[in-house]
Amino acid sequence: MLLKGNFPEKIFLNGKVISGVDAAISVFDRGFLFGDGIYEVMVQLENGLFYSDAHWQRLQQNLEKIGIGYNVAEMEAYLNPLLMAGNLLNKPCLIYIQVTRGVAPRKHSFPKDVPPTTMMYALPYSLPHINTKNVYAILRSDNRWLRCDIKSISLLGNVMANERAMEENAEEAVLVRDGFITEGSHTNIFFVKSGKVYTHPANQLILDGITRKIVLKLCEDLDIPVMEKAIGVDQIDGMDEAFLTGTTTQIASIAQLGDHTYHAPDTIGPVTKKLQEAFAELKKLEPEKLVL
Ligand code: PDD
Repeated sequence: MLLKGNFPEKIFLNGKVISGVDAAISVFDRGFLFGDGIYEVMVQLENGLFYSDAHWQRLQQNLEKIGIGYNVAEMEAYLNPLLMAGNLLNKPCLIYIQVTRGVAPRKHSFPKDVPPTTMMYALPYSLPHINTKNVYAILRSDNRWLRCDIKSISLLGNVMANERAMEENAEEAVLVRDGFITEGSHTNIFFVKSGKVYTHPANQLILDGITRKIVLKLCEDLDIPVMEKAIGVDQIDGMDEAFLTGTTTQIASIAQLGDHTYHAPDTIGPVTKKLQEAFAELKKLEPEKLVL
């Protein structure tokens, strides 16, 4: 098959590391038919994997949430062979992992005794020391289901919201449910008001991001008060700063959210800046120290 674009050279698929162009799954895979699966995204930095335990743990927990019985340690054991095969050992890269409920005749109920489809790849990818972008984000209605805590591969709501952001030359779509801001299409969102940090509580309406957790821990270490409380759309104007978090986003300042401008594109709010600097320091630590 001819693949155009930035595809990985090697893929881990169902217990084997194979060439990217040869990797194929059945059209009866439940991931393909129903979006019935879970995914994970993590990065490897120059000095090793960044919070990999937290990512593997979240994958295991999410598989349990949807009743896929699989021990992620089986895949984890293949990460080094995969990196080695793709010449990415100890090199900065992005790692994508996906587990679906496997291949079975199309029927909504879970198939019995079907092995899950397991897939993982790595792509060369370098994160900047600090994300210096100052994002423009649009507001969109949160049309997703009510289990956004599950890192499901069914991402239509996220994809459609993100596409609208691209059409409007924005970097992210920030989602609004019942008048309250939940999260971005692929990021979590934080606000700052009078030195205090606000973010949506980690309930079923958002994905509990690993970067979100890291930022909450940094706030604790830096004595920055935090309140896990949803911010209303009517409160956006009254906030001093806003920023997005995510594995590839790290911490990105928001210059403009919807119609409200927080600051000029060349300015970063003091709390956002402090957290960005503290986050950059974490990236210098040995992977063993990166636990949540
Ligand atoms: N996105 N919220 C949503 C809806 C997300 O999809 C993501 C991650 C986050 C941030 O989570 P974390 O800090 O663990 O990356 C929040 C990934 C990176 C993606 O879909 O590519």
